[in-house]
Amino acid sequence: MLSWDDETTSASAARAPQMPQPQLQPALPPSVRAQPNAPLHDVALNPALVAKPAVAAAEETSRRVNAADKRIINGKTDVNQLVPFKYKWAWDKYLAGCANHWMPQEINMQRDIELWKNPNGLTEDERRLVKRNLGFFVTADSLAANNIVLGTYRHITAPECRQYLLRQAFEEAIHTHAYQYIVESLGLDEAEIFNAYREVASIRDKDEFLIPFIDTLTDPGFTTGTMENDQKLLKSLIVFACLMEGLFFYVGFTQILALGRQNKMMGAAEQYQYILRDESMHCNFGIDLINTIKMENPHLWTPEFRDEIKALFFRAVELEYRYAEDTMPRGVLGLNAPMFKGYLRFIANRRAQQIGLDPMFGQEENPFPWMSEMIDLKKERNFFETRVIEYQTGGALNWE
Ligand SMILES: [Fe+2]
Ligand SMILES: [Fe+2]
Repeated sequence: MLSWDDETTSASAARAPQMPQPQLQPALPPSVRAQPNAPLHDVALNPALVAKPAVAAAEETSRRVNAADKRIINGKTDVNQLVPFKYKWAWDKYLAGCANHWMPQEINMQRDIELWKNPNGLTEDERRLVKRNLGFFVTADSLAANNIVLGTYRHITAPECRQYLLRQAFEEAIHTHAYQYIVESLGLDEAEIFNAYREVASIRDKDEFLIPFIDTLTDPGFTTGTMENDQKLLKSLIVFACLMEGLFFYVGFTQILALGRQNKMMGAAEQYQYILRDESMHCNFGIDLINTIKMENPHLWTPEFRDEIKALFFRAVELEYRYAEDTMPRGVLGLNAPMFKGYLRFIANRRAQQIGLDPMFGQEENPFPWMSEMIDLKKERNFFETRVIEYQTGGALNWE
């Protein structure tokens, strides 16, 4: 693994006070600045200053990035310089994400199309479930992508984390593509499905819960660097990783994968299988990000802040349960809404523990242990046995 052993003077010590901040600001949009007052970073971006012949060699050396100076938020080191690595877990997840690359068109949807067009192929409840399910997901991943690209990305000052976020943003685009591809393949009413997040209350309520947190990060005027704003950022990251990707997706994933387990909608189920694997990685990355921010900024994790987070967890479980009830007004596929109550509590407990909170719902069992096998696709034979065991590309593919 690449690393620089010859760590140089701390960047904070070497920061060049002689660099005039005002003249640099206009050339640099906020998205490429570590933060508005990051002189070292600005210097590195400004070729006119970097190339000055008068700059002594010793000063050049002093500008090298020291991994120890890197921070996930409010960092002052050059965000354009990937190495030296500090957050290797982020780089490793980037590599793993690339190794898991897939595209929606590679999955055969023919049997799904035949089943959907056959009047006796699916029950009305199954059709409702599929449409409500897609109604949430067709816009959810666009929300996720916009949250990353327009929000999270610019507030994160560790380049290896930004590298992962770039990969994640593309994966969100692939997911939106996958859902669109299913809608198109089945010949569903696009207006109905793509407007569901406005028109179906159980979907709209989930999105309305998320949007204020996305708005915080995407507000062009929002910057980190104060206790209040750093807590806002942390809260938004928790909502996004633990409650959106880590909870709001799980009723929907379970439903479609349950269809696949009954040999129905196998193509769609396979698409969801790969999406679930990606989302599981997104969630884990987000949790690592949150925990590292907590470690670097322990003052943010106050009792009041923890109470706010717990309240958000309770609200999210309630909203996702309502979505389960709405998508499954009666039992379908051996599933029913009450089963999801236990499942959502089980997941919420797990997410809480992953970020250092106590479980909130007592001892909850996982009513769908088979979902764990789906998440860990690498080790398992493809559940639906429609393709090779390990769907990976590039260097990670094992040629035997
Ligand atoms: Fe996604
Ligand atoms: Fe995601």
